[in-house]
Amino acid sequence: MSLLETTICDIPLENPFIIASASPSASIEMIEKAFRAGWGGVVTKTIKPDFMKIEDARPRFNVVKEGKKIIGFENFELVSKKDLSYWLKGISYLKKTYPNKAVIASIMGDSSRESWSDLALQVEKSGADAIELNFSCPHGMPEMGVGAAVGQNPPIIEKITRWVSESVTVPVIVKLTPNVTSIEEAAAAAARGGADAFAAINTVESLSGIDLETFDPLPSVNGKSTYGGLSGKAVKPIGLRAVSQVARTHSLPIMGIGGISNFSDALEYIAVGACSVQVCTEVMINGFDIVKKMIIETEDYLRRKGFSSITQVQGKALGKLTTHESLVKNSPLVAAVDTAGCIGCGRCVVACEDGGYGAVSLVDKKAQIDEGLCDGCSLCTHVCPADALKLVKLEA
Ligand SMILES: Cc1cc2nc3c(=O)[nH]c(=O)nc-3n(C[C@H](O)[C@H](O)[C@H](O)COP(=O)(O)O)c2cc1C
Repeated sequence: MSLLETTICDIPLENPFIIASASPSASIEMIEKAFRAGWGGVVTKTIKPDFMKIEDARPRFNVVKEGKKIIGFENFELVSKKDLSYWLKGISYLKKTYPNKAVIASIMGDSSRESWSDLALQVEKSGADAIELNFSCPHGMPEMGVGAAVGQNPPIIEKITRWVSESVTVPVIVKLTPNVTSIEEAAAAAARGGADAFAAINTVESLSGIDLETFDPLPSVNGKSTYGGLSGKAVKPIGLRAVSQVARTHSLPIMGIGGISNFSDALEYIAVGACSVQVCTEVMINGFDIVKKMIIETEDYLRRKGFSSITQVQGKALGKLTTHESLVKNSPLVAAVDTAGCIGCGRCVVACEDGGYGAVSLVDKKAQIDEGLCDGCSLCTHVCPADALKLVKLEA
């Protein structure tokens, strides 16, 4: 068995890297390209019944940058504009041509039972390995009473999950929104409705910027905008929190999503309980081939750590999450300077004076710690551009 083989609801995956339901899975050609690059599976762009009419705005993306680097990505793209017959033919072709790749159909009906169960039955008949319910799109669709409007309402989550799970035999995966007070409650409702697995997270509701010359909110569509969904690196901490909270309270499998851009991001999701991961924004920015490096680097990590399967990493960090109340409060930690590495920039001095305890000063262009003042908070270690500060145990 290969190091990376795993499963989601007993569906075999040659590796845990799956393309999320989004622009990179918007056509059969793109999905084939993803498979050829090495992705273990795909969740189709969300399929809707033909009678639901949607129209996308242009432009519909904006980015949050740090220098030249994109750290956040906002979109208000709606679901797939392709008709149902395109997807049914496409899914059946994909399963025949790539039998070892997982094809998960993402669907979204309206408020009627028939729309959800018909759609689910049809994609099941076309050969989809599983069905993902999009209860989580935070823009456009909620105004029509679907998307995150469903995912923010536990009784409706339960009802629609039941409609679908009673209609099909393939596994039903519920995609959860992070835009709720308690993701555990949303997951509990899905489980009561018969969900077989969870996917989390969809995008985080956002307003990514304002053009200060025109005062247009961004992305500006003829001078107006609306709230969108944030994805990419910036949302990883929210995704990890959400997945770990679901994993601590539920035993169903979880596909981790949100800000995964490399092998270690993926492994972090697996360490907090995900069995596989989905990626969207990083593929939109850097292309399908990123998976090649993710595969090699994950295998290297597993070998270095002595794991014989990626499944052994699953949930490894979960037992170490606890309440703030039970964290050790009296460990005697102070900052220590690696004098040879210190470049004398003084960033730690400013940070500690204005955001800490005034415990750092520059002596002969080197940082020096006053252990009597240092509170061991760790701020200086994070702002040091030379990695010359760390926390050590205060000698008794
Ligand atoms: C342009 C764009 C379109 C998306 N379309 C869908 C969609 O049709 N259905 C869905 O469930 N999620 C959709 N998503 C959400 C992604 O599947 C994913 O949950 C989210 O982007 C977080 O993952 P990431 O940080 O890897 O992008 C979309 C995201 C983006 C950026």
